[in-house]
Order: sequence, then structure tokens, then C-alpha cells
Amino acid sequence: MSNKLAIFGGTPAVSVPVLDLWQPPKEEMKRAVCELIDADFLSGSGTGLPKQFEEEFRQYVGAQYCLSLDHGSTALASAFFAVKVGPGDEFITPTLGYIGTYGGALHIGARPVFCDIDPHTLLADPDDIEKRITPRTRAIVPIHLFGNVCEMDALRDISLRYGIPIIEDAAHAHGAEWDGVKVGNISDITCFSLQGSLPYGKPICGGEGGLVTTNSRAYYERMLVHCHLHRAGITEELTLPEYRDLDSQVLGQKWRAHPLALAIARVTMQSLDERNARRAQFRQQIFGALQGMAGIEPVCAYPKAKPAGFYTGHPLVYHPEQLHGLPAQRFVEALKAEGVPVSLYGRKLEHQKTIFRRGFDLWGHGRGPLGGEFFGLPPFQGYKDGDFPQAEKVAGNILHIRPIIEPPDGLVEQIASAFEKVIAHHQQLL
Ligand SMILES: Cc1ncc(COP(=O)(O)O)c(C=O)c1O
Repeated sequence: MSNKLAIFGGTPAVSVPVLDLWQPPKEEMKRAVCELIDADFLSGSGTGLPKQFEEEFRQYVGAQYCLSLDHGSTALASAFFAVKVGPGDEFITPTLGYIGTYGGALHIGARPVFCDIDPHTLLADPDDIEKRITPRTRAIVPIHLFGNVCEMDALRDISLRYGIPIIEDAAHAHGAEWDGVKVGNISDITCFSLQGSLPYGKPICGGEGGLVTTNSRAYYERMLVHCHLHRAGITEELTLPEYRDLDSQVLGQKWRAHPLALAIARVTMQSLDERNARRAQFRQQIFGALQGMAGIEPVCAYPKAKPAGFYTGHPLVYHPEQLHGLPAQRFVEALKAEGVPVSLYGRKLEHQKTIFRRGFDLWGHGRGPLGGEFFGLPPFQGYKDGDFPQAEKVAGNILHIRPIIEPPDGLVEQIASAFEKVIAHHQQLL
């Protein structure tokens, strides 16, 4: 191997082609779409393929109920509605997160309260969640970020002690497990995204779409009335006294999925377990090879967690202080020049967004959860740097290795050599 770094004109450490030998099942997807076109089934829910797909996913996770929606974020919005989050309520979600998780709650007038993370898993820290509970907290909203599974025992314990439901955001984590139980069958409600396309979209994907699962009849019916206008059979499904006599237009919102999207997603589900297993193997090999290298910390999983999905990639926390302060950006540039499929996770933390620093007049006229006093909420104070020390320490230093499903022979070893090379010569990059 050349000792000269590739960024300075040396020979790249990775010489095998950086590609994924796994091929998406495009012919099956086309067939599934054409079947619906031939059947003139381009709109509808609660029947046909949409219902069949819901049933298959429901059985896959082992939950009692499953509904499909047009997006992961609307699945989440309907979950907030199901647990009765409303104006003036609070919910807790990690600052290393995403606005799609909770945008729906914000727009019904609830205030996000962010929590810090465990810097070794990058997931919501249960102890910090507990500290932020107030009498207004109506939901705990952990995210199985990048397919890593949150500490569900601790979260369920908090949920039970305080009587606050959990809404899990599993947008990245289809097929993941906690203590042998599939994510989707663990807490009160779990939401999945179906956005993107194979191989690097959501682990089950059909362009746009979402799924929600629950074991609660009450939550299920509440989600039905919230946004499943004209779903086939809806009036027969509404059995609870408060919803029983509603008509099929229920509360007027139609957030159902496009059948063509579900047809594609259904095809992608068939290879989910295989893709998860192969990605998990690639992750284990890469993480094993990188373990112990200066400046690099592969994220770890809690002992009961079985990560899966791996949306975005396999995360590593970079520690610049171990490499004479070499900035993450420069480290990544040097790795890329060596041929490593790596990227820097460049997103802001949620509390660092402008709307949460200075507040926002959501509905005009000084109204909304991010302004002055609102439905019993005290005036919004705004977040500042230093509020979430663990997340702030790692946020700019999260690297992702592309979650290749079927790597060419030798790629894992060459990626490891590339890291060794850049680390060994890092002082040249300063
Ligand atoms: C963590 C997380 N939650 C929710 C969503 C929202 O899903 P969708 O894009 O399907 O609305 C996403 C989408 O990327 C996400 O990454």
C-alpha cells in the first residue's frame, strides 16, 4: 500500500470497485404496479392490496393492528392524535432527531421538549427523558435512529410509572428487535416510513408512504377516525361508543397511501430479512475491523437490541481530540479520497434550529406553542448551546459507512486499511 495519502496524489487504499452487488427486484416491482393499473385500482384503502400489505406487515411484527398512510410523518401525526396530544401539551423527543418525527404534533399546538442522547448509541437517554417530564407531558417519542434500538426496558418503565404513552419512530428500523420482539410490537404505537427506493431508501419503501402498528383497539380506532376518510369498511371497524355512529367521512382527513406505492413497498418487504442479515454482517465485519483504532468509535447497541434497517448507514463517532484536533470534515475528505464509502452526518440538532432558538409565531397573531403563553404552557424560552452536552459533543462528528448489502470481495479489508492509513498519517492533514 502506498504511504502517500490519496488526497495528496497517493494510490487509494481501496482498489476494488465500491459497489453493491445486490440488485433491487425491479421486474417484480414493475409487475406489481402493472397489475394494479390493469385492475384500475389506483385509489382506495381497507381493501385489496393495501389491506393485504397491512395484514402482512402486521403479522411480520406481531402486532394486533396496522394501518398504511401516505408518509411516515403522517403516520406519526396520527399516532400523536391517537394518544390525545393536543394544544398546550408537551412531548419528549431526542435533539439528535428529525422534524418529520414530531411536525404533526407541533401543528396541532403541542410543544416539543428535547432530550439528550447516550453518546455511545446516539439514542434518547432515558434518564434525561425522565428529568424533563412535567404535568403537561403527553407522549415520549424515541427514535430508533439509523436502525439502532432504544433502551426499551427503561422507556417502558418510565412510561408505566408516569402513565405517559410511547410513540416509537421506527422510520429507519424495519425488522429490528428488542429482547426478541420485533419493533412494532413493543410499546403503545410504532411508526414506519416507506419513503425512498431500494437499496438506500427506507428498509421497506415505495417512494412515499408510512405504516403504523399498535396493540391498542382505542388507539387504532382513533387513528382511523383521524385521517382514514372513506376507508373501505371503516364504519364496521368503529366499535367504541365514542366513534360507533360516525359516518365513513369520519373527521375529514384523507391521509391514505397511494396503492402503487404500497405495491412497490410490498415487493421490497420480501427481501427485508435477507438485506438486514447481510447488512448486519457487513456492519459486524467493518465495526470489528475498526474497533480500537484511534479517533474512531463504532456505535454500540444495547444488549437486548438487534439493530436492523440501517437507514443512512453504519454510524461511527469520530473523536478529533484523539487525532490532534483534525476536523471531521478533513478526516472524511481524506477517507473519501482513499475510496471509502463514508459521509459526514451534517444535520443540525433539533434544538439548534432557528425555530427552537428564537421561537416561532406558528399561527400568526402571537399564537402557537413556540410563542407566548399558550393553553396553559408558559412562554417558550428558546434553546441555546450547552443545553444538550452529549448530543452537542458528537453531533458534528458522526460518520456513516454506506450500508452495502453485498460488498465485493476484499472491500471490508480495504476500507479498514484505508482508515489505518489516514489515521497513521493524520498529522499531514492538519
Ligand atoms: C427519523 C425519521 N422520522 C420520520 C421520518 C418521516 O418519514 P416520511 O419521510 O415518510 O414522512 C423520517 C424520514 O426520513 C425519518 O428519518
